[in-house]
Amino acid sequence: MSRKPDKTKPPQHKRWEGKEKPDWLARALARAGIFPQDEADDAIRAGRVSINGRVAKMALAPVPPGATVKVDGHVVSLEAPATRVLAFHKPAGLLSSTERQHRTGTVFEALLPQLPPELARYTWHAVGRLDVDSTGLLLFTNDDKLVAHATSPDTRLPKRYVATVFSIADDEKVEPLRRGMTLDDGPARPAKVRVRDEHTVEVTLTEGRHHQVKRMLGAVGLPVRALHREAVGGVSLDGIPEGTFRLLTDDEVHEGLRYEGRAPSAP
Ligand code: URA
Repeated sequence: MSRKPDKTKPPQHKRWEGKEKPDWLARALARAGIFPQDEADDAIRAGRVSINGRVAKMALAPVPPGATVKVDGHVVSLEAPATRVLAFHKPAGLLSSTERQHRTGTVFEALLPQLPPELARYTWHAVGRLDVDSTGLLLFTNDDKLVAHATSPDTRLPKRYVATVFSIADDEKVEPLRRGMTLDDGPARPAKVRVRDEHTVEVTLTEGRHHQVKRMLGAVGLPVRALHREAVGGVSLDGIPEGTFRLLTDDEVHEGLRYEGRAPSAP
């Protein structure tokens, strides 16, 4: 027997129009730093989590705004935690994705086991990507709005790279990058370029398209042998050993990344 829609209730997507939308339980727990995402799923399945006094067994259970959520009988706050940002020195040979490919590991596999418990409880997002063979500064954050901010070309956050090139570089060769060149996916903004020596070129971009530095230098006859990112906005690697990370200060996030950030929630 087919069930007729209940015309006395608005459809689900209309019910929340103009109001704060409910969040999914597992996502809300992970975002608030109560559990990492996979542990949130396990805790829910194990019946450890309740919403307004009823045990929730589904990761996708909606959490209405203002609901009382308990874990193991204790009330937890689902307020979003303060913005946290990690500067990681990516070694070559790691993918900037969550899924490993055969024998190639990921930056998450390298970073997450190093985190102390107060940082390990968050869900971390990589801020943009570096190619598998590229090295250098890769930021991670628990705030998905910061990812959108820092990677949007509209923010014009400068990213400084140092490329080691196969051929001999000079000012004349790199001039098209400074003027603004057309790539196969459209025009690239003029880049700041400094020839440090005949095989080393510093390129600063305010956008971040796929393989952009390699494609720009390749197009002027300077194929890239190695690529390293030194800085994003006002944040630089400054001495972070390869494969390790450090937590940025709030000032570095505000001024260096030009991001307001979420304030810490009340304890
Ligand atoms: N441009 C590239 O070509 N590769 C990177 O990893 C980053 C920027």
